[in-house]
Amino acid sequence: MFPTHRPRRLRTHPQLRRMVRENALTTSDLIYPLFAVPGESVANEVKSMPGVYQLSIDKIVEEAKQVYDLGIPSIILFGIPADKDIDATGAWHDCGIVQKAATAVKEAVPDLIVMADTCLCEYTSHGHCGFLEVGDLSGRVLNDPTLELLKKVAVSQAKAGADIIAPSGMMDGFVAAIRAGLDDAGFQDIPIMSYAAKYASAYYGPFRDAAESTPQFGDRRTYQMDPGNSREAIKEIELDIAEGADMLMVKPALAYMDIIHQVKQASNLPVAAYNVSGEYAMVKAAALNGWIDEERVVMETLLSFKRAGADLILTYHAKDAARWLGA
Ligand code: PBG
Ligand code: ZN
Repeated sequence: MFPTHRPRRLRTHPQLRRMVRENALTTSDLIYPLFAVPGESVANEVKSMPGVYQLSIDKIVEEAKQVYDLGIPSIILFGIPADKDIDATGAWHDCGIVQKAATAVKEAVPDLIVMADTCLCEYTSHGHCGFLEVGDLSGRVLNDPTLELLKKVAVSQAKAGADIIAPSGMMDGFVAAIRAGLDDAGFQDIPIMSYAAKYASAYYGPFRDAAESTPQFGDRRTYQMDPGNSREAIKEIELDIAEGADMLMVKPALAYMDIIHQVKQASNLPVAAYNVSGEYAMVKAAALNGWIDEERVVMETLLSFKRAGADLILTYHAKDAARWLGA
């Protein structure tokens, strides 16, 4: 008895495989993260992230032009301030590093969509994503006082020219608070991309080198999600949708493909997946050792995020991927 059904029939020729391929990655899906530091002509390579740099604003602008020329529609800005304090002043100050970077990029490349990561951890002296009582070493972040600060951060970023506000601190009610803050300040048309299901993950290690945002004590497990949970992710996204989120993000991506899939099923908003620093570092390390084919591994991984349900992918591989896609 030979099989009647032969799926291999549709795999016999590259063109045929292309015709029946169900999902595709395009440059339109990509968002490239950038790290802004004070100074001029600064380009510090991040040790654990080969090919990723902390850049001064003049360099960020050069990079933004390149990204735009590659056909990538958007960047997300992170900032490393000169000084950190208990009130995260550098996060909401009109002359903050991300505010200045956003203004400079929008001036040089007006058609590039600039997202701003809206959080406090790069700017607080203790490295937590929210407000702590002075002298509190327990790391118990105070939710509602943090919301007031996040409103200020978002409004200052919008004023500086950011097109999309992306709150990442996993505070309860942060989407509603930021929405109200933006609306009151006249920014009704600025969308919010919420880091809706963000897990307390070891995969953020290299990012914390890049952003100099490792908590000085404690960890982020009282605000970021427990890796064992998936129904809780749906609860988180339902709340963010109810609070007015325009886009939802799942983070990290690779170990959380099931969550990307479930979030896509559970909502009609665009879903973004954050291919985080540790995922990038692993691929880079193996590639630099000659152990894997970097292009094939990266393109397979990014395509798989699309298959899982991601509409958008934040990735440090974005420029390479755009080149491999034939930009
Ligand atoms: C901070 C923030 C983190 C990332 C983006 N924003 C990490 C953290 O919670 O420490 C991680 C990004 C990455 O690992 O690439 N709110
Ligand atoms: Zn944070």
